[in-house]
Amino acid sequence: MVNNPKLIAVTSGKGGTGKSSICYGLGYTLAKQGNRTLIIELDFGLRCLDIMFGMSGKVKYDLGDVLKGKKEILDAVATVPTASNLNILCAPKDPFMTVTAEEIVDICRRIRKYFDWIIIDTGAGINSHVFDIVEQANLILVVTTPDPICIRDATMMSDEFYKRGNKRQRLLVNKLSKKDIQTHMIDNLDQIIDAVGIQLLGVIPEDFTLKESTGKGTPLPPNAPSLAAFDAISKRLSGDNIPLVIK
Ligand SMILES: Nc1ncnc2c1ncn2[C@@H]1O[C@H](COP(=O)(O)OP(=O)(O)OP(=O)(O)O)[C@@H](O)[C@H]1O
Ligand SMILES: [Mg+2]
Repeated sequence: MVNNPKLIAVTSGKGGTGKSSICYGLGYTLAKQGNRTLIIELDFGLRCLDIMFGMSGKVKYDLGDVLKGKKEILDAVATVPTASNLNILCAPKDPFMTVTAEEIVDICRRIRKYFDWIIIDTGAGINSHVFDIVEQANLILVVTTPDPICIRDATMMSDEFYKRGNKRQRLLVNKLSKKDIQTHMIDNLDQIIDAVGIQLLGVIPEDFTLKESTGKGTPLPPNAPSLAAFDAISKRLSGDNIPLVIK
């Protein structure tokens, strides 16, 4: 296990739960709070972080160049121009390229002194490849939406981690709609937590500005509903006793 910096893996059973958007949001807020932050994108062939951070066409090298031994890791790390302290290491464009857990751990070991937080954005799905890599993290963030299929997939994922003896999991519930929040929200949240069976770290509202900002490659505007949630989650990750933000 990599102890320092703190290595978090963002994962989910079902696709499209918002893993990459969460990496984007947490990346900005952790960096804003003064942490040297790196996001490593493991969704091979489905790269999106460069677009989300407004760096499409500007990322020269990626994880593929590192794995092939063509580039040193730090040379493939790209600094996000719209934030201090924030960096990304993009996934290879080649969808058929593979990486082992050992290679990822080795990469994190070699660059850990440069960062306070390393966030790993994984692809969706229950497969041993994701499990092996995610298990190396200090903390696994399992993402679900309030959708029942998503909750079931998150539960299967989390159960599998438990079976493998991994208890370092926290739940993020994403895309909570205004209606979810206004009607029976606490009951619904309780049901989600009970179903998945892991402690809740945060709740992120459905937020059109998040969708818009990641699409345009700009930072979240200060009034974006999800920004307060990401800010609170980052502080909780750093050990602050911050109440859940639900608006
Ligand atoms: N809180 C949110 N509010 C509104 N839209 C959201 C929210 N989070 C994510 N989305 C939208 O949901 C879609 C999927 O998000 P994203 O790509 O981050 O998910 P993902 O889990 O990384 O997907 P994949 O499994 O394909 O990697 C995107 O259109 C994104 O803009
Ligand atoms: Mg993604």
